[in-house]
Amino acid sequence: MKFYVTTPIYYPSGKFHIGTAYTTVLADSMKRLHALKGEDAYMLTGTDEHGQKIEEKAKEQGKTPKQYVDDMAAYAKELWKKMKIDYDDFIRTTDDRHVKVVQKIFDKFMEQGDIYKGEYEGWYCVPCESYFTETQLVDGKCPDCGRKVKLMKEEAYFFNMKKYENRLLKYYEENPDFIKPEFRKNEMINNFIKPGLEDLCVTRTTFDWGIKVLKDPKHVIYVWVDALTNYLTALGYGTDNDELFKKYWPADLQIVGKDIARFHLIYWPIFLMALDLSLPKTILVHNWVTMKDGKMSKSKGNVIYPEQLIERYGLDSVRYFLLREMPVSQDAIFSPESFVERYNFDLCNDLSNLLNRTVSMVNKYFEGNIPEYNGTPNEVDKEFEEFSSKQIDLFEEKIGNLEIANALQEIWTLISRTNKYIDETMPWSLAKEDNKEKLKSVMYHLIENLRKIAILIKPFMNDTSENILRQIGIEDETLIKWKTLKEYDKLKGIKVIEKGQPIFMRLNTEEEIEYIKNLMKK
Ligand code: MSP
Repeated sequence: MKFYVTTPIYYPSGKFHIGTAYTTVLADSMKRLHALKGEDAYMLTGTDEHGQKIEEKAKEQGKTPKQYVDDMAAYAKELWKKMKIDYDDFIRTTDDRHVKVVQKIFDKFMEQGDIYKGEYEGWYCVPCESYFTETQLVDGKCPDCGRKVKLMKEEAYFFNMKKYENRLLKYYEENPDFIKPEFRKNEMINNFIKPGLEDLCVTRTTFDWGIKVLKDPKHVIYVWVDALTNYLTALGYGTDNDELFKKYWPADLQIVGKDIARFHLIYWPIFLMALDLSLPKTILVHNWVTMKDGKMSKSKGNVIYPEQLIERYGLDSVRYFLLREMPVSQDAIFSPESFVERYNFDLCNDLSNLLNRTVSMVNKYFEGNIPEYNGTPNEVDKEFEEFSSKQIDLFEEKIGNLEIANALQEIWTLISRTNKYIDETMPWSLAKEDNKEKLKSVMYHLIENLRKIAILIKPFMNDTSENILRQIGIEDETLIKWKTLKEYDKLKGIKVIEKGQPIFMRLNTEEEIEYIKNLMKK
């Protein structure tokens, strides 16, 4: 089975803050999950390098647009490397492979009569590179970013969206998995389609930095036809070398933030219909990472960059925090308090301590040798096995529905239950009573569940997972397979490491909150 997952291509208009990294961490985790399940998983990310905003940014820095985007693409790749993003391809909209195909697609749309020439007058938001109608403005300002808009008029090409309106609505209705979560579909219908779907302006003549329309080169193809088609051009669509396209299209999962939901849920499927291509199976729209005082912004002095947190607290705590804190229907809030709390409670108290206690008990009671499964679990162990199996099912259910934070929560419920199992079975008493059989079974179940936990967290926190497996002596690849999650009795002749090392050390709450607050002020 194949699994093609994409992130949006990023505007390289500045450093990426912690919120921006969310989409990519999530896409990476989904890729890793499907790969771990044995699928042929392929992940695409990249940069969206054209437009007026980029032209302006380059000028500010005294660079040509090309120099500017080259530097920014290098910066993005460096950041994703630090965050261990396992992408298979990084597309840049200035790549030749993209430019040529976008021009072909535009020509095709013109020939089919999907694109026509007209004149556009509208309220234009420069930073968002979007025109809005009077009714779409909020208090006379840009509905997406809240900034000032100006009235502009120009000759432009338009995409006839109305032609596809009914087909789109029918598609929504017949494909309940197309949009997740479901309420985003209703938002599209009620806010944009029912009030009358507007045709989309797809070219500009007011700037140069973009892909030229071949048949009318004073027009530059403006953002969405250029940007959205990256998901196809990266696979070689429209070229002689289109094996990847044949193999991976349609996308299985496209992940986007809520600010670009409209473009991905309305225009993108319509472009695909116009190209006579299949639509992605699922588009997941996620919310934003915000701060207690609203959106992250340099002027508010509340911005935090992923590198800053990774440097001090390690990559996996950042990945965990992002994925765990994002609810399905509201924004996640980043605060130094919540970050330190998650670190101390979930990672240190629950996970790290469980590993530590277990490794030291196996060393103490069995000289590091993991006892073998006895095949006849007693009542307490059986109940624990059933609980663990139920948690795995709940994880699968939640992740299948793309409720990422809830899925992680199910893993942590298993971690807590495993800690509780130690308190319940009291291995120290069993040792005192010399109840070897029971003690063996407890140790076996603890290690088995740590193995399961390590597999479950692997897509999200690969380093931590590997660290756990190393400490419990599991090197055999066949024991790290997803399909072994519910198996017992496979651990034979394995030794834990002699001296366990904490994978997360307890943080001094006050000191670290202060530390992060200072980072944000800088
Ligand atoms: N270039 C467009 C996408 C074109 S896709 C064909 C774009 N780029 S972006 O750099 O502005 O945003 C990239 C991703 O980061 C988007 O999914 C966006 O929603 C996401 N985020 C930006 N700020 C965010 C938060 N504060 N929180 C979570 N995600 C955020 O849009």
